[in-house]
Amino acid sequence: MKRIAILISGRGSNMEALLKAHAAGELQAEPVLVISNRAAAPGLDTARAHGVRTEVASFKDREAGEQRVLDLTRECAVELLVLAGFMRVLSPTLIEAFPNRIINIHPSLLPSFPGLHAQRQALEYGVRFSGCTTHFVNAGVDTGPIIRQSVVPVEPDDTEETLSARILEQEHATLVHSVNDWAADRLSVEGRHVRVSAG
Ligand code: GRF
Repeated sequence: MKRIAILISGRGSNMEALLKAHAAGELQAEPVLVISNRAAAPGLDTARAHGVRTEVASFKDREAGEQRVLDLTRECAVELLVLAGFMRVLSPTLIEAFPNRIINIHPSLLPSFPGLHAQRQALEYGVRFSGCTTHFVNAGVDTGPIIRQSVVPVEPDDTEETLSARILEQEHATLVHSVNDWAADRLSVEGRHVRVSAG
């Protein structure tokens, strides 16, 4: 089974969705490593509770942090990185080591509302629909080829918290589906386009 590493920075609910799917036999890849750039990330305890190896790689010095990620992923024979609530921008060094092998989950319908506080951006703009996007990571911020998107309605009385919670439910499902697409070799990247084959 293909081996994946999950990078987190905080709560790790997207990571937990992957670990729960794996425990239920619904993930066609094996999460063998969880790496956080923050030692205090609550998601590390969640990973340990699932019996997954955890490591901390400080990104205060990004080059050193990325080298640690490279060393750990080589040691664990990891084929895919999943950025699940990981809040740091990767350099070309790591991206070139994993060409179309880094999947990110973002809480908006890219290219709308890239970067931080995407849910708040959507509310402030006044869109009727937002959602989430999984994409392969390229050199830009939230600009890589899109794998899947899920649409979420914005309700008139939504707050940043209520909209974020509604989007987060879709993030969990969308990320599991995207990792399964990859694990089943259903994804092929042609420039900006990701072709998802049936099956
Ligand atoms: C999620 O909305 C994720 O898309 C964003 O941060 C939120 C928390 O993610 N990057 P998680 O619970 O740490 O997975």
